[in-house]
Parts: sequence; structure tokens; C-alpha cells
Amino acid sequence: MDSSTTHAVTGAFGYSGKYIARLLLEKGVSVHTLTNSKDRPTEYAEQITVHPLKFDDEDELARSLEGCSVLYNTYWIRFNYKTANHSIAVENSLKLFEAAKKAGVQRIVHSSITNPDINSPLPYFSGKAILEQAIKDSGLSYAILRPAILFGEEDILINNIAWTLRKFPIVGIFGDGKYKLQPIWVDDYARMAVEQGMKTENIIMDAVGPETFAYTDLVKMIGKIIGRNRILLRMPDWFGLMMTKIIGAMVHDILVTKTEIKGLKSNLLHVDSEPRGTKKLTEWIEENKSTVGMKYANELQRRTDRA
Ligand SMILES: NC(=O)c1ccc[n+]([C@@H]2O[C@H](COP(=O)([O-])OP(=O)(O)OC[C@H]3O[C@@H](n4cnc5c(N)ncnc54)[C@H](OP(=O)(O)O)[C@@H]3O)[C@@H](O)[C@H]2O)c1
Repeated sequence: MDSSTTHAVTGAFGYSGKYIARLLLEKGVSVHTLTNSKDRPTEYAEQITVHPLKFDDEDELARSLEGCSVLYNTYWIRFNYKTANHSIAVENSLKLFEAAKKAGVQRIVHSSITNPDINSPLPYFSGKAILEQAIKDSGLSYAILRPAILFGEEDILINNIAWTLRKFPIVGIFGDGKYKLQPIWVDDYARMAVEQGMKTENIIMDAVGPETFAYTDLVKMIGKIIGRNRILLRMPDWFGLMMTKIIGAMVHDILVTKTEIKGLKSNLLHVDSEPRGTKKLTEWIEENKSTVGMKYANELQRRTDRA
């Protein structure tokens, strides 16, 4: 694929989309973004053509993608809340794929999740499976990447584990804490995405980093490196969720949801595939130990305060 053309990235002023856009620009690819957050300050914003993510106007959505050969789709809704939910995310994503087809986009590089399953009782995982199938049926060329969990500067989950460790003397662990996670560095993830954007064959691949942690070991590792060796207390889900709701009310956010805990405890953020990322989370925490978790990363605020 000719890299001198134009590629579209959803959410180029968000988290993973920002890293994908940056790498594309470094490679000399012109970048368009479809975003809800056009005014969020980003160092290279002037180099990017910005369009709104207008799901209520499918013609405009298609026009935004005209001239783009590849679409990197990061769009998704993390959890159900008042104004957003997974069915909306599925519906909107399907509109985006249709718009891409109409606009003449040739390839989609799509961010999915480890272990998507159409029969999953968890709408995150079933919704992602529906989207994977839609992409496979679309007739477009595709690369479907399945990350377990991303880490990097703008990250929410790992950052907020560190924040909790900094803030509280006792930190709760849902259940036995033996369920596993395989974090991948957002830069590694973006590199994979951009590599796939330059190819043409259809591929589905897990996107996991070189370390696998049991959840308790992950929390211990972060605590040790940032100098907060806290008491880790196993707690039943109902109690843990009640505690996260209380903390959530303090920070005006939803820290974690019941279904996210179910996904984690069902080992859905773990796969047996070879690691694709090279950066270890342990190294990254060591390099960022003075900043990680110093500020709470607020998911809901990102969705309302878009500047
Ligand atoms: N982050 C992780 O640890 C992780 C782990 C596994 C899989 N993934 C998958 O990787 C993809 C990218 O994740 P990310 O963390 O990099 O996402 P992100 O940048 O926070 O968001 C990606 C895009 O979705 C939009 N979006 C997110 N939540 C929304 C909401 N509630 N309402 C409307 N629009 C919303 C963003 O809007 P703006 O344009 O306003 O920024 C952006 O365009 C997603 O498909 C996710 O499922 C992420």
C-alpha cells in the first residue's frame, strides 16, 4: 500500500488514536481524524484534518472519509452509563464501516479486544465480536487487532491503580486476584496498527505485551515501584464495587463496572498468543514512577470536558 496517501484515524486527540496519528505523520502519511474532541490540545493538531464523528449524519460521515485509503478505528464506549452504552457503540461503529465503504476506503485497521465472543453475556465482548464479523463481511480489507489492556501516559486503568495505591493504606482486590492480564504499551500498539495499515492481507491478531500478570501481582509490582507497598485485601465483588462507587462519587467518575470485573475475573484479558509488544509494563512504571497515579484519570470527564 502506498504510504503517501491519506489515512483516517478516529479519536486522534484521544488515547491510542493519538499515537497512531503521530506515527502516521512521522511516516509522511496525511492524516484525517474523526473525533468528538476537536478542541482537545494536541501538539500536532495543526497537521491533521479534523472532522466530527457525526453518527447522526451518515452522508457527512462518508464525506469525512473521502480520499482516505485506510481507516484506523478506535471508536468504542468503555461502559454503559446515562448517555452511552455498548449497543450505541455497536450501532455507530456499523455506520462508520458503511460510511468507509461508501467513501472508497480500502482497509480498516480495527481495535477490538482479547477474547471477543458473540455469545458472551458481557456486552463489551459480544459487541466487539459483532463488529469483527461485520468487518469480515464488509468486503473491505482488514486487520483486526485485539489488545487486552493498553498502558501509556494517558492511560486510565493502570494509572488509577497507582492513584489508589498512593491514596489509600489498604487496597481492595476483587476475588482471588489470580486472574491474568497482558498489558501492551500504547506505542507498541500504535506501531502494530500502522504496520497493518500499510499491508493488504486480512488478519486478526492479539495485541499483548511481553509480561503477563496475575492481577494481585500487577498491583504489588506497581506499589513496590512507586514506593507504596500497601495491604492488599481480597474482597467479594459486591463489597469491592460498593467501595469503588464511594470513591467514584468522590472523583465524579465510574472507576470500574460490574461487567468489567466479570471480564477480568473470567480471564478475558488473557490469551496464549505470542507477545507483539516489546516494552514491559514493569520498565514503563519504573521510568514513570514519579508521575504515574499522581492524578486521577477520569473517564467520564474525558467524555464531557472535551477540550
Ligand atoms: N484503553 C485500553 O486499555 C483498551 C484495552 C483493550 C481494548 N481497547 C480498545 O481500543 C480502542 C481504543 O481505546 P482507547 O482507550 O484508545 O480509546 P479513546 O481514545 O478513549 O476513544 C476512542 C474513540 O472513541 C470515542 N469515545 C470513547 N468513549 C466515548 C463515549 N463514551 N462517547 C462517545 N465517543 C467515545 C473517542 O472520542 P473522542 O474523539 O472524543 O476522543 C475516540 O474517538 C477501543 O476500541 C477499545 O475498545 C482499549
